[in-house]
Amino acid sequence: MDSSLSRLDQEPKRLIMIGGKGGVGKSTCASSIALHFSLQGKKTLIISSDPTPSLSDIFETEIGDQETPIKGAKDLYGIEISSDVVLKKWKERFGPEIYEVVSSFASIDYDFVEYIGGAPGIEEEYMLNYILELVESEQYDLVVWDTAPAGHTLKLLHLPQIFLRHLEAATKFYMNLYSYFEKFKESVKLKKGKKTLLEIISGWENLAEKVVSFIRDTQKTDFIIVTIPEALGVRQTERIIRDFDEYQLRVNHLIINYVIQEADCEFHKARKEMQQNYIKILKDQYGSRIRLIELPLLPHEVKGVERIGKISEILFKQE
Ligand SMILES: Nc1ncnc2c1ncn2[C@@H]1O[C@H](COP(=O)(O)OP(=O)(O)OP(=O)(O)O)[C@@H](O)[C@H]1O
Ligand SMILES: [Mg+2]
Repeated sequence: MDSSLSRLDQEPKRLIMIGGKGGVGKSTCASSIALHFSLQGKKTLIISSDPTPSLSDIFETEIGDQETPIKGAKDLYGIEISSDVVLKKWKERFGPEIYEVVSSFASIDYDFVEYIGGAPGIEEEYMLNYILELVESEQYDLVVWDTAPAGHTLKLLHLPQIFLRHLEAATKFYMNLYSYFEKFKESVKLKKGKKTLLEIISGWENLAEKVVSFIRDTQKTDFIIVTIPEALGVRQTERIIRDFDEYQLRVNHLIINYVIQEADCEFHKARKEMQQNYIKILKDQYGSRIRLIELPLLPHEVKGVERIGKISEILFKQE
């Protein structure tokens, strides 16, 4: 099996998600992948949902929560989005309708929307939805998503369950409230909301399902895990891949970063030997179903379009 990302050149995707534990080189790889496709003339957006984003540093361009053209790179745009902003967007989109419906039969103030917005899963669900909207807006040929460290990615995968559980609880709560007010129909004047609560809730449910089916569609979405050739990296990779399997999401590429090439001292020889051990474990375990790509440890940090471009060349090198 060839060991580069070149398959992605033949099978273009709409969304590429990069995951892995903290500090393994996710942002570096995501940036290199995004740059690669932008250089082919594809209008590409790289988006970071990391609470401590680093795209601005990597590309030496001030990137915020608005789509920003990356200096020195044509067809490449970036966004660094925080969960606060995502939650704000969720409230802007759903707040008024929740308020309208609930306030038509109960006396609530707008804080209620805040309360619902704080429910577990909403932030993650909406982050995915927000990204999907960008993908589907057709403004970009490709969206590359540099996700937050592993814990977060896993949380995203648990999302449909958390979210649907929340919906169930919320539905019960609303229905109880509703039937309570129904009893006093005569005395409490019920305003007719434009949408019923059940319509709103099933709308959220559809949203969650749409997101999940998009990221399960291997024609449109590709998952890339970045790891390091150490015990911790191997363990975390096993955990992530097990979770992905459980959610019927396919990991197609695994980048093993910081691989020592030439060891010319005892220290590096020992490290190289240790790394080769773990690389073998990863190959034995996943080689038959996942493309493993080794990324050499470079003598310098990877900053600026030029150096990112070098990583692109390594990652997409044809065998
Ligand atoms: N192959 C490499 N050789 C040398 N330095 C590298 C390599 N890959 C990444 N780096 C450097 O390692 C550091 C961490 O990389 P990066 O920010 O991409 O990791 P990350 O997984 O996104 O981290 P975080 O989880 O904090 O977001 C950066 O300074 C980057 O320049
Ligand atoms: Mg990062």
